[in-house]
Amino acid sequence: MDRHPLQVDIGKAVSGRSLAAKLIITLTLLLPLQPAVADAILEGQRHHPVKGVNGMVATSHTLATEVALEVLENGGNAMDAAVTAGFALAVTQPRSGNIGGGGFMLYAPGNGEAVEAIDYREKAPAAATETMFQDQDGNVVPNRSRFTHKAAGVPGTVAGLAMALERHGTLSLERALAPAIKLARDGFTVPDRFTEGLEQARDRLQRWPATLDTFYKEDGSPWQPGERFRQPELADTLQRIADQGAKGFYEGETAALIVEEMERHDGLITLDDLKNYQPKIRQPVHGTYRGHDIYSMSPPSSGGTHIVQILNILEGYPLAGFGHNSAASIHHMAEAMKLAYADRARYLGDTDFVDVPVEGLTSKAYGEALRKTIDPDRAHPSSDIQAGNPGAHESPETTHFSIVDRWGNAVSNTYTINFSYGSGITVAGAGFLLNNEMDDFSAKPGEPNAYGLIGGEANKVEPGKRMLSSMSPTIVRRDGRNYLVTGSPGGSRIITTTLQVVLNVVDHNMNMQSAVSAPRIHHQWLPDEIRIEQGISPDTVRLLENKGHKVVTGSAMGAIQSILIDSDGTLYGGADPRRSTSSAMGY
Ligand code: GLY
Repeated sequence: MDRHPLQVDIGKAVSGRSLAAKLIITLTLLLPLQPAVADAILEGQRHHPVKGVNGMVATSHTLATEVALEVLENGGNAMDAAVTAGFALAVTQPRSGNIGGGGFMLYAPGNGEAVEAIDYREKAPAAATETMFQDQDGNVVPNRSRFTHKAAGVPGTVAGLAMALERHGTLSLERALAPAIKLARDGFTVPDRFTEGLEQARDRLQRWPATLDTFYKEDGSPWQPGERFRQPELADTLQRIADQGAKGFYEGETAALIVEEMERHDGLITLDDLKNYQPKIRQPVHGTYRGHDIYSMSPPSSGGTHIVQILNILEGYPLAGFGHNSAASIHHMAEAMKLAYADRARYLGDTDFVDVPVEGLTSKAYGEALRKTIDPDRAHPSSDIQAGNPGAHESPETTHFSIVDRWGNAVSNTYTINFSYGSGITVAGAGFLLNNEMDDFSAKPGEPNAYGLIGGEANKVEPGKRMLSSMSPTIVRRDGRNYLVTGSPGGSRIITTTLQVVLNVVDHNMNMQSAVSAPRIHHQWLPDEIRIEQGISPDTVRLLENKGHKVVTGSAMGAIQSILIDSDGTLYGGADPRRSTSSAMGY
């Protein structure tokens, strides 16, 4: 049965560094401003200094945090540091950091000017077809969109980071790439998590000789913690970008290597696909929540739309009075999440190809209409909302970083190759992994993807189209000033994870690290269950079950990397203890 109010009303609604699990430090920066080293570089920019602070970087890998922080210390701005971090993560964290994938970035100037979104999501190759992941009988062949060369979308990361630097940075691409090239060529000391990841994904990755050669030792074992891991081919690939700009990736030797890889294995990406790839400037989704301005990612990500939609529903409830993670809070959050994810399945896709009613979905009127459908005492079965079938949950690996500079400029960036290590396929001779982002399309309308997310017509495969995402880089402003910079990996859980950090700060008045660390919950409509992390009390679970919810305890969700800018300009970092290499550092 369709949930009718949604259909009706959408149309009408106007319209210290932390070594993570080992040590997490919430940084409070009270240092005086350093001498204005960057004044020469930044001359002409209209930045308003934030009183009494310098800058902060929060990423999922300490080495990336360190090199980005160094950029800030040397006078670079938040975008210089962001692009440096993005390329460094492509070297140090191959399971999610990437040049073979894509993502989304929000940039919020410290002077209160408009927030900008940069969409560098992968695109379907020109030869892609609606039924490419189905067999002759129209049945979905699941692994074709996940572990074959056809799984790869045309990568967007290099073009996106280059565009972001060009628009808002002060460094040359060569300078921003220098730390990544050094880390790739000279190597870095492998942390436990690096070894664990390659151990877990061994069977999947070692099917591909170039992946085996690039990421494992000669005997096939992964590099061990404490050992130095070098990537000479990746260093050469990055050097070509440093020398030639984005063309050094989308044309010439690297492009030829990608296309040869495709031709050897029946893949679809051509030289023209690469040459034609362009990132896009988008209008971020904007909403308000209890006096705060919420900016988040617009389609082709669903993230911003549904964060704002859920916040609009929840604004009518006294969440602070209900209490953090009380049964009342979780019940109302889960009911709101359920409604939003049902809409995601039906309406969301790439706005360059389909009309998405973002304005209606994010309107207060629609939020109010949805709120009226929520019973405060009983769970609304998902089957009454719309039928569907859940799929298996794959391990999601995406990565987020947040950066604030001394001028209060903020960057919130989430990028990915989809699964851990993406498709598992390394471009031979180029040393980087290809994404398997084509799985984020609906292989067939109504069929779930790897995250159990149902997609509709709006997200069917079409040549040149961007596949729907959940990535939600988010920036919250208060009184016109940047206040909270946040985002997370986590596949379908990205939206709800990021949402809960906003709720924890705004409703529950938590400090930055507590907001990041607190146990999370998630409901995505299908499967019809509230997934919780450890740390929610059994009493609460019982109360939820009494309301008719199925509650399932799962593994940790997401890896938020956040920064909060207090009204006096003090910066607070929140690095997620769910990742052992997370780090928030300031100077
Ligand atoms: N690949 C996960 C996402 O973009 O949401």
